[in-house]
Amino acid sequence: MHRCIARFAEHRWHCSVRCMSSAVGKRRALRSAFPVLDLPLHPIQKHVYEANLRNSNACLKKYAEFSEKVRKGGGENATARHTQRNKKLLVRDRLRLLLDDEDFLELSQFAGLGLPYGDIPSAGCLTGIGRINGLWCMFIANDATVKGGTAYPITVKKQLRAQDIAIQNRLPCVYLVDSGGAFLPLQSEIFPDKNQGGRTFYNEAIMSAMKIPQVSIVCGSCTAGGAYIPTMAEETVMVHRIGTIFLGGPPLVKAATGEEVTPEDLGGARLHAEVSGCVDHFAWEEKEAFEYTRNIISTLNFQLPEEEEETTTTTKKKKAEEEPLYSSEELLGLAPQSYNYSLDVKMVVSRLTDGSRFQEFKARYGTTLVTGFAKICGHLVGIIANNGDLSYEAALKGSHFVQLCDQRDIPLLFLQNTAPTPALTLSTTQAETNTNRLKAQGSMMSAVACASVPKITVVIGGCHGADSYAMCGRAFDPNFLFLWPNARVSLTAPGHAGSLLPPDGEQEEELKKKQEEKLNGRLKEESSAFFSSGRMWDDGVILPQDTRKVLRDALDIIKQQHYQLSTEKLQSALLRI
Ligand code: COA
Repeated sequence: MHRCIARFAEHRWHCSVRCMSSAVGKRRALRSAFPVLDLPLHPIQKHVYEANLRNSNACLKKYAEFSEKVRKGGGENATARHTQRNKKLLVRDRLRLLLDDEDFLELSQFAGLGLPYGDIPSAGCLTGIGRINGLWCMFIANDATVKGGTAYPITVKKQLRAQDIAIQNRLPCVYLVDSGGAFLPLQSEIFPDKNQGGRTFYNEAIMSAMKIPQVSIVCGSCTAGGAYIPTMAEETVMVHRIGTIFLGGPPLVKAATGEEVTPEDLGGARLHAEVSGCVDHFAWEEKEAFEYTRNIISTLNFQLPEEEEETTTTTKKKKAEEEPLYSSEELLGLAPQSYNYSLDVKMVVSRLTDGSRFQEFKARYGTTLVTGFAKICGHLVGIIANNGDLSYEAALKGSHFVQLCDQRDIPLLFLQNTAPTPALTLSTTQAETNTNRLKAQGSMMSAVACASVPKITVVIGGCHGADSYAMCGRAFDPNFLFLWPNARVSLTAPGHAGSLLPPDGEQEEELKKKQEEKLNGRLKEESSAFFSSGRMWDDGVILPQDTRKVLRDALDIIKQQHYQLSTEKLQSALLRI
């Protein structure tokens, strides 16, 4: 039901955007001169800034360690086996050949690290959004150096999230298949449930029906469940000698019939291109397969706008992009190490927006939430940023602003830094305040859930309790949700475990203290950005200083759907779903 409403909402957004986009390229954005946020760092803020900076540097170190782990994939032996014995390209080299450049938006790069069943680098599968012939495409690429590219539960989760993003943003999908199918020891966590293995194939069918193109490249093993990805894609390329598609491999055939057969004869590229017809293009080598794929993408019938340029007297320069007045490096000192170290969130805003400009909405009301309009690399957005408790007034203001942006079809950017613990009810007056706050927060949650515009959430500090739902947490289906490395994700922040323990007058002080300590330790470990990202509660950890670029890419990606030409039948296709 929820999905239907969400689809309807997305559909409404697509339709309204499509109507507006007929004259794409000829139109220009309305001129704006939003006020400049003149917010340099004051000496009085210096000690907080420096403490945050120290914490950010420690987080960056962790980020570098995790990145290195991911870069090594399945390790030296597996890499040698993959490249020397199996004569295949490594997954990042494949992406280099497929994409226009290396400037792609990688998603959930730390997924799979620190799980109960071990470290699974990149969850055995790279996902991200990169450009092919200028068109943003979602890629889902197995890394066969990680246990033969087999699917762990986290791999399935990562693939499904990539497909969800592709559905929400109408992105063509390119699958680079090189997988031994299910990781058998964990089969019960991969196979039977709704959001498990089979959902990948369901999504492929649904996306095709929605006219979201599905293209696949078989550049390795494609065994069992994996075999359906290329066969269900609209167009498939397969590489000679490297690619195989079969439900059961030669050992199974031998066990069942006693017959000895080579992988190539059982399900190689020649067989599938010439006999079964499962694939559409035969490539002699990987490089050729990626060239075919790039050509396939150029037939998808999108018409991208020319880069908007304006002629000045001497040079041609890109229009409408003003850099912020302050260095993005300063965001490292603004990233709060804990709630008490939060500085005015408008300082963060001023380091992200074009020209540090911001047209604030309801500046004097509900000031613990900052709302207003800004441009990020030329894209108009509505910004909603925590600047303290999500009080009654702040939540009312939030609802109003979300509805305003929804009405004007302006994407929403949430900068989330919620309070560490819910407000306590210690008196009747407090009870009334909290009840009112509850009602207002409920309204804000409804407004956020029902808004049909794209939403992007960046957790710049805390992500705790119900406030995080109103600030478009994961459960509220933002198009993208990123974390800064200093982010903390838990019901209650570390250090506040006392608020989670039941009141017990009888309990010995000593025992209670021990329980609290234990719980706080656990909260600390489980609330780190890397713990969250390892489990895919987000779309990845991004560095504060890269945030503007990531937002630019995300907003470009969201906008691309306006340029798909083959959409006359789209409306009826969407209504059927
Ligand atoms: N489940 C669990 N582990 C698997 C696996 C599976 N389906 N397929 C491969 N692995 C493991 C291997 O045990 C090996 O582990 P190790 O590095 O700890 O020794 C690692 O993945 C690499 O496999 P290996 O066979 O050494 O590499 P390869 O490059 O020669 O072949 C495959 C890779 C995927 C082609 C091959 O392993 C294979 O055919 N696997 C079985 C596929 C299958 O029948 N899947 C059915 C799933 S329903």
